[in-house]
Amino acid sequence: MDIEEMDKRFGLEGHASVEAGPGGLPFVKVANALAKAEISLMGAHVTSYCPKRSGEVLWMSPLSKFEVGKALRGGIPLCWPWFGKHGFDESAPMHGLARLMMWELVSIVPNGDEGTVVTMHLRDNAETRAYFNYAFELEYTVRVGARLGLSMRTLNTGGAPFVITQALHTYFRVWDITRVSVDGFDGCRYLDKVGAGGNGVQHGSIVIDREVDEVFQGCVGPAVIHDAASERSIVVEKSNSSSGIVWNPWIAKSSRMVDFPDDGYKEMLCVETANALEDARCVKPGESLTLGAEIYVK
Ligand code: BG6
Repeated sequence: MDIEEMDKRFGLEGHASVEAGPGGLPFVKVANALAKAEISLMGAHVTSYCPKRSGEVLWMSPLSKFEVGKALRGGIPLCWPWFGKHGFDESAPMHGLARLMMWELVSIVPNGDEGTVVTMHLRDNAETRAYFNYAFELEYTVRVGARLGLSMRTLNTGGAPFVITQALHTYFRVWDITRVSVDGFDGCRYLDKVGAGGNGVQHGSIVIDREVDEVFQGCVGPAVIHDAASERSIVVEKSNSSSGIVWNPWIAKSSRMVDFPDDGYKEMLCVETANALEDARCVKPGESLTLGAEIYVK
């Protein structure tokens, strides 16, 4: 279905339209009484969330590519069916397949009086089978209102169980990374992915004063990003997740990434809702698993 047809079929006055965005990719553009949001159907990738009064919540790189099969830089990439590197296949794409594929728009419906719910699907196909030889259906719903609700349901439609790791890899917009602190990980174990790495236990708040790439375990409660410069706190509540990632590339890694501005690290922070490492999940035939996050500004 082309973009115009999708808009005719799914567009909803006072809620959302389907339009061509950067790179000519189809985007669902939500504008309701409570918030605005933009979602690329390539990757089912939320690139903007702007609740009334609090301004943009997500960070999007001005150097991001917008092409089918290329991961967008910023917003909310969906890492699935593996988070990070594939377990053994060096040729497999980082963070899995979902963020590289065109998703099917299924519906745009009102949520209560003022919010909007956008639902998208991805099913197994020849490309996914090349790396993940299972039958599945992913259903991703994005609820746009005073809060941003994200819910990704993995349904096993085949006859064999499979194991996945996954993440809602959310890039948040902050005004000054040197004045940011993150709560919600006190007492949690982590794997440090920077340099020689190693394992540790977080004590107190996280501050970002170097490259940070930590995969936390045993974190089920909300994460709170305090951004002193903007006087905003962003809360990330989650469901069916007991792992999470905090990532800021800092100076050297920023300059190595072609789609990332050299000073981009100053204004972004990833706090990801995940099922990673020992929080990997098995999905049996006919069963499903839903990873969820609820994001709002305090
Ligand atoms: C984070 C990883 O989740 O994603 C980092 O922990 C990685 O190691 C980052 O660098 C970005 O990954 P990518 O594939 O989008 O460049």
